[in-house]
Amino acid sequence: MSRAAAFRTLAVVGAGTMGSGIAQKMATEGFAVVLVDVDDAKVAAGVERIRQTLDEGVARRIFKREQASEILGRIRGTSDWQALAETDLVVEAVFEDERVKKRVIERLEQVCRPDAILATNTSSFAVTDLARNMRHPGRLVGLHYFYHPAKNRLVEVVPGAHTDAHVLQRAWQLQEQLGKVPIASSDSYGFIVNRYFAVWLNEAVRLVERGAADIATVEAAAKEFFGIGMGPFELMNVTGIPIAMHTCDTLGRAFGPFYAPAELLTRQVAASGVWDLHGAADPTRAARVADHMLGAVIYVAAKLVEEEVGSIDDVDIGARVGLRWPQGPFELANRVGVARAHDLAAEAVEPWRLTLPRTLEAHARSAQPFEFTLVRSRIDDGIATLTINRPDTLNAINEDVVAQLEARFRAAAGDPSVRGIVIAGSGKAFIAGADIRFFIANIENATLARTVEFTQRCQNLLREIDECSKPVVARMHGLALGGGLELALACDHIVASDKAAMAFPETGIGIYPGLGGTQRTTRRVGVGLAKYLVLTGQMLRASEAAAIGLVDRVVAPAHLDTAVREALARGVVTAREAAAVPASHARLAEYFEHANAAALLDGSAANSDDPAVQRARERVAAKAPIAVCIASDLIEQGARLPLAAALPLELEHLTEIFGTRDALAGLKSIGGPPPRFEGR
Ligand code: COA
Repeated sequence: MSRAAAFRTLAVVGAGTMGSGIAQKMATEGFAVVLVDVDDAKVAAGVERIRQTLDEGVARRIFKREQASEILGRIRGTSDWQALAETDLVVEAVFEDERVKKRVIERLEQVCRPDAILATNTSSFAVTDLARNMRHPGRLVGLHYFYHPAKNRLVEVVPGAHTDAHVLQRAWQLQEQLGKVPIASSDSYGFIVNRYFAVWLNEAVRLVERGAADIATVEAAAKEFFGIGMGPFELMNVTGIPIAMHTCDTLGRAFGPFYAPAELLTRQVAASGVWDLHGAADPTRAARVADHMLGAVIYVAAKLVEEEVGSIDDVDIGARVGLRWPQGPFELANRVGVARAHDLAAEAVEPWRLTLPRTLEAHARSAQPFEFTLVRSRIDDGIATLTINRPDTLNAINEDVVAQLEARFRAAAGDPSVRGIVIAGSGKAFIAGADIRFFIANIENATLARTVEFTQRCQNLLREIDECSKPVVARMHGLALGGGLELALACDHIVASDKAAMAFPETGIGIYPGLGGTQRTTRRVGVGLAKYLVLTGQMLRASEAAAIGLVDRVVAPAHLDTAVREALARGVVTAREAAAVPASHARLAEYFEHANAAALLDGSAANSDDPAVQRARERVAAKAPIAVCIASDLIEQGARLPLAAALPLELEHLTEIFGTRDALAGLKSIGGPPPRFEGR
């Protein structure tokens, strides 16, 4: 496989729970997958496990029956290792025994193509150690998936000491293509998440062991403070108490007795029972329990950053995505206050005579909260790449993102060594729009002025991007919705992967596009198609968007970066003519150019013999009426004005639209069934 070739066939060795789940996810995302184990019975059990999980998905309406069959059809289970000969990347997911894993990796080196990437899904060993007997250790990378790997999006991507840079980069890109949220961990025992999660479980047991609280009290206090559905003891009952003990054991040997399993944990494993969760919680002890567990977690989190195992952002993303905590350790530290977080950490590790990480001391002294990097900036060879880094919310734009994007963009624009700027997103999506939660909070707290101010600031930033004297390219590798698409439209060029898709969903959630969507779209595709896209919220695949001129170029994911560089070389676009409407969209464009929004909503608009037009009409009728009318007016009015005069029109109706009942119902409907709009 050449360095830029697309992944076609993937493979998993080990058809157990983790291996079959990883294979299922790969097949769900459209890859052909070879699933290998030592004998046919193990392979059959793995395939059966996948079938059952897919059946559950069908029962819960996550997939249609045909989709589940297609997914299963992409998986080829076999005990013949020669089937791995033509695969592009193989994940070994055999059980956690170092010798077995090493033997498997050695065998993979023999059967796989020399350019195939090899990955190990290990939770307890170092990638560097597993690569020790390899002829080419540069091709091995750690990919630590979390249970259940077809459902849990987190994956830790871990380079060993010898992993080639391009192997690491390709493995990372594949995780994004699989819809995973990758975080970068160094090759340290327990990587990022297990290091503090195991401590969190272990300290819960120690609290009980010391008589500070009983199990029911720890469960209740942990659930309440961390905002989770299951406390530490229930979680251990579900996922396996011995697994928790083994992880603590590994960490204890690597990092000392604070991490080693509590005696009670070891006794519980020896007794092979589950924790007894019965009993009434004692609320008078809740605060002490929460303080202790938080202190221990904050100590480890800060230690991870100090040891450069992971960044503040990745520590927190790991908790939110992998463990489903609403807030990660550093956000929790900010919540209680950094000085108090420091004191709680000091108390929690006091019996172990551990030195507190310097970063914790420094934050406590300065009283500065921990800062998250929501926009990463990197300059390579004169090209600044600004990557929005909120993968767990599909890079939704909030006030902090805008502030950081503005700062990083201005820095890049003003840096004489930078000749071009790329805007990108991390994780599977490009950008899923403005942060809906921020909008909802402002409606509920009667702080709509913040929404207006936010929109104005975003508009200003998009104008700076649009008018920048250096070329700016949007690298659209995945979904671009609402404000994400509007940000891309402010760039000189949009280069999309053929996996990308885009839409203006606003009128379907009670609002209208406010970041230039009603104006820059017109300048690219004309009034008719702009009205069609904004009023229907129709999702376009990248190829269709390119056909109408909404994006400039579409390439396979593996060629995206080359295409971005080529687009930068084409330079700045100062004025844009709308593209010619292709025959495939001519009827839609013509119909919508003359369609009246009110008539579309009440069904009195002219019928069409074109089924695509009829479908589009029906879609508009289901949208929020006030939003549809405002958006339609904005497109028509703005088309007659210069862009600079047209953009501010979008700001004029913000208070009105966010004050409607439909906006609140629409914004709150995300993730649920579409709302029935009332027109008020
Ligand atoms: N604002 C805030 N959070 C957002 C978001 C947005 N615009 N878009 C996605 N997210 C969050 C989701 O709520 C979810 O959070 P959770 O894991 O805590 O539940 C997370 O991102 C992942 O999204 P998920 O829904 O699991 O991903 P998906 O692949 O199923 O995609 C979408 C679903 C993108 C279609 C759906 O999330 C969506 O409609 N988002 C809103 C898009 C929108 O209307 N944008 C315009 C805003 S003006």
